This record gives sequence, structure tokens and C-alpha cells, in this order.
Amino acid sequence: MSTPTARRCTSRIAATTTLRELITNSAAETEAEGEKLGAQLKPGDLLLLAGPLGAGKTTFVRGLARGAGSDALVASPTFQLVRVYPGRVTLAHVDLYRVKVAAELLDLGLDELLDEGAVVVEWGDRLVAKHGRLITFEPLGGDRRRLVFADGS
Ligand SMILES: Nc1ncnc2c1ncn2[C@@H]1O[C@H](COP(=O)(O)OP(=O)(O)OP(=O)(O)O)[C@@H](O)[C@H]1O
Ligand SMILES: [Mg+2]
Repeated sequence: MSTPTARRCTSRIAATTTLRELITNSAAETEAEGEKLGAQLKPGDLLLLAGPLGAGKTTFVRGLARGAGSDALVASPTFQLVRVYPGRVTLAHVDLYRVKVAAELLDLGLDELLDEGAVVVEWGDRLVAKHGRLITFEPLGGDRRRLVFADGS
């Protein structure tokens, strides 16, 4: 007979975390939400973006970079793990989609990037970060997406 084990909470969101959610109806709306948040970014801020392929993470980062004062062209960093967009606040854009090995994550130099500016990580739920604000993108069919912002993490 197996011994019952304590149920471990695997959620990345602490019980005390409050959630804010909104629905966007187009890529432009998601980008605009990113821009609003980008305007508030400070060095040391870490945003972790979660959600399936095509959910709108890169679209959000495009707005985020603009809000942070960059006019850089934002695309998924397919071959580069990190792209840096200089602006009012430097924004480092990381995409962990192809990263399978923990060592690669260590090589990221996340602490150094956070010293230089803000950091946004696509597939950020793969990152075992001690801090960071999780934003989840959920496709609702068609062009609708639910964005869930975890505050206070
Ligand atoms: N409400 C919406 N918000 C964001 N993108 C939308 C929305 N409606 C349609 N789209 C479209 O969905 C696609 C989202 O692509 P995007 O590259 O931003 O996703 P992603 O989450 O970064 O995907 P990946 O995991 O492949 O990196 C774009 O083609 C965009 O135009
Ligand atoms: Mg992407």
C-alpha cells in the first residue's frame, strides 16, 4: 500500500497574488497593452510571458519595447537567445522556446541583464526565477486573447 504524500503546490502564483485580467480583440490591442506597461518599466523589472504558440507574446513585447522608448524592430529571437533594445529603459528580450538545457539558462546572465535594464522572457514559465511578474496569454478563438497579469510576484 502506498503512503499518501503531501500534495505539493506546483503553481508559480503565490496564494496571495492578485490577478488582473483583460481581453484583447486584436493584435493592435495587445500591443497597446504592452506599450502601457512598457511606459512604466524600470531597470530590474522582470516579466515572464507564458502561453502557447501564437498566443501574442511577441506582439506584446513589440508594444513593451515602444513603451520603454525603443524604436527597434521586435521579432522573436529565434536564433539569438537574447536581444537588447536600447531606450529610456533598456529592454532585454529573451525567448526560451528552443532552450532545453538548464545550463543555457544559467548562461543567460539574467542578473547582469537586470542590472542594465528590464527583462522580458517569452516562455518565461520555463525559467525557475526567484522573482518576476507572470503574464499569461490565453487564445480565446479568432483574434481574442485573455491576458492575465499576476501582481505582487
Ligand atoms: N488579440 C491578439 N493579440 C495578439 N496577437 C493576435 C491577436 N489576434 C490575432 N493575433 C495574431 O496572432 C499572432 C501572435 O503571434 P506572436 O508572435 O505575437 O505570438 P507568440 O505568443 O509570440 O508565439 P510564439 O510562441 O511562436 O513566439 C500574430 O500573427 C498576431 O497578429
Ligand atoms: Mg514569440
